[in-house]
Amino acid sequence: MNEHSIKHSSNKLDDARDTQKTASISNELNAYDRSTTPKQEELILTARRSLIDLPTTKVKRPSRRDQSFSWAYTYTAFSLPFAKAAIEYLGCNTQSKIIDPFSGSGTSLIAASGLGCHSLGIDISPFSCLLARSRVAVCFDTNLVNTYLEGDNKIATEEADQSAISRSDMSYLRSVARKMGLNKNINEIWGNLLNDNLGNYDSEIVTIVSLCLAARDVTKLEKGSNPIWYRPSLSEKAEEGITLESTAKNYAKRIMDDLSTCSYATKPNIVNVDVRDYISNEKYDICLTSPPYLNRLDYVVAHIPELTVLNVFLKFSIPDLKSMMIGTTKINEKNYGEPPSVWGRYCNEVLKKIEAHSSYASRRYYYHTYRQYFSSLAEALAATISNLKANGKGLIVIQNSYYKDIAIDVPTICCEMLSHLGCESEVARTEYVKSHMGYMSPIQNSYAPNKKLGEALVYFEIKN
Ligand SMILES: C[S@@+](CC[C@H](N)C(=O)[O-])C[C@H]1O[C@@H](n2cnc3c(N)ncnc32)[C@H](O)[C@@H]1O
Repeated sequence: MNEHSIKHSSNKLDDARDTQKTASISNELNAYDRSTTPKQEELILTARRSLIDLPTTKVKRPSRRDQSFSWAYTYTAFSLPFAKAAIEYLGCNTQSKIIDPFSGSGTSLIAASGLGCHSLGIDISPFSCLLARSRVAVCFDTNLVNTYLEGDNKIATEEADQSAISRSDMSYLRSVARKMGLNKNINEIWGNLLNDNLGNYDSEIVTIVSLCLAARDVTKLEKGSNPIWYRPSLSEKAEEGITLESTAKNYAKRIMDDLSTCSYATKPNIVNVDVRDYISNEKYDICLTSPPYLNRLDYVVAHIPELTVLNVFLKFSIPDLKSMMIGTTKINEKNYGEPPSVWGRYCNEVLKKIEAHSSYASRRYYYHTYRQYFSSLAEALAATISNLKANGKGLIVIQNSYYKDIAIDVPTICCEMLSHLGCESEVARTEYVKSHMGYMSPIQNSYAPNKKLGEALVYFEIKN
């Protein structure tokens, strides 16, 4: 790999456009997302010097709820300064096309738009797609959003008492949908909403995302393996005057205040599909992405309130979404056969160790969830590479993991999979992760007391 040429080949952004784009993105950059270059002592492995200088991938949780753009924060996002610097590092110019096959809250898409580049985000979660789109929904009409959110509650509904949403909130949500002209559902126009370069639906986007975010605040999750909404907390809050409606109106105000400081000449395209099924007609130059980590985080459970409200507008199956999420803890298929060679030798060794582990559930349950993860990761990487140009390149942010005392170097597994897909790749930098789900369980920690969890940058280039 010619590092020099990669870094300097095409980093010339058009000056006039540059000023405008830099201004628009800097509003988000300067908001809550102040990242710095990681401290040397936080780096575990440092293969490519030039990548050491990229800002940290980690995002600090906004310290105040009302901080600008804090509504766009998600626990799994990487940082916007990192995304911008990474895309620049990968040699973007205004002609470059960027793809993020796991776009989540859309950080790489915002960075690409800020640099004046065309980008495509793919995510299986409709809420992630909505949130990502809302970050560029700058053409909203304040009066229209306020009118939509002014519930009339005259819509009688028999729905939903059995589910998460109380009858009065369902009635409110239905009245919002009716005002929007979305009496039935928005499935027919969902694709247009997410790919609306003119911003024709920005008011609808701001309205729905405000309702989803409000749902998170006014409800509590019941603890357990299958959380549902905890309706009593809603009524407790309602007694204090905190309702879905009032909270959604507050969110809408904050979102519109923040968006009114931004302008984007280039807006991303977003597709709400399983990345494994998506082959684009267009080919992309640069990939910047972060797949779900091997940490048993359940994205669907983590966003149940938002998904449940969105489900009033958009028809989709929450259980099906859970099954299709990469990293799901739900076993879709049991398979003990020899893993395909394209997953790489090291992955095969790890799976054998998990299968042979002495604990009772290892072979019967955990082996399958890990195998399923590697299978879907391999398929997702194959689809991603096929959406890139012949000289495409990219950065993948991914964490290592442990199964009990078995270390699982997921970044290395990624590299071996990429090598089978015709790429040269390397683990270019790893930062220690201090707070991590993997440290939380004392039982898990007892298996590997000295474990070090890290967030790696995997660099790759297509070679043949
Ligand atoms: C680590 S997060 C990405 C975070 C993103 N970089 C950001 O800054 O917000 C991984 C994302 O992958 C998505 N995902 C999981 N399985 C998927 C699949 N089969 N196809 C597409 N996206 C998927 C999840 O919904 C989640 O948003």
